[in-house]
Amino acid sequence: MDEKRRKLAVYPGSFDPLTNGHVDIIERGARLFDRIVVAILVNGEKEPLFSADERKEIALAVFDDFPNVEIETFDGLLVDYAARQEADVIVRGLRAISDFEYEMQMALMNRRLNRMIETVFMMPDERYTYVSSRLIKEVFALGGSVKGLVPEIVEARLASKTAV
Ligand code: PNS
Repeated sequence: MDEKRRKLAVYPGSFDPLTNGHVDIIERGARLFDRIVVAILVNGEKEPLFSADERKEIALAVFDDFPNVEIETFDGLLVDYAARQEADVIVRGLRAISDFEYEMQMALMNRRLNRMIETVFMMPDERYTYVSSRLIKEVFALGGSVKGLVPEIVEARLASKTAV
């Protein structure tokens, strides 16, 4: 294997919406790998709040200044997508022990499906260990503030969703 080959990581998720926890992991990944592709799952949740195009638009705006961060959407099996991209690594964030079981199952299933792609876990800054897209949507919908927990563009998009 060519050791000098540039390392590509895929960071998959629903990102409905992108949180500052995701942003933190992407920034860490961008420092660690030559390229990191944020891969937004198109047909995950039955009724996402943001369409895949909206989620992509948000991430593109947030990472506009990061030359080695790419934003894509994907459908189907993650390992097949990662293999098509010729990725070396799948990155996932681990916030707490409660994430571990689900993440371990996915990592081992993905390894069974494709032994060549390694899953790497990274911990976000402790400020974001309790932040999830689900809680962001719930708190915002009930009138709570999510300031500092999501990028400003996400706050604005959440506000425009509830205004209609
Ligand atoms: O942000 P999420 O919702 O926790 O991300 C989950 C995601 C997108 C990584 C997972 O649902 C996924 O990989 N979906 C693609 C379909 C697939 O490959 N399923 C088998 C995973 S072992």
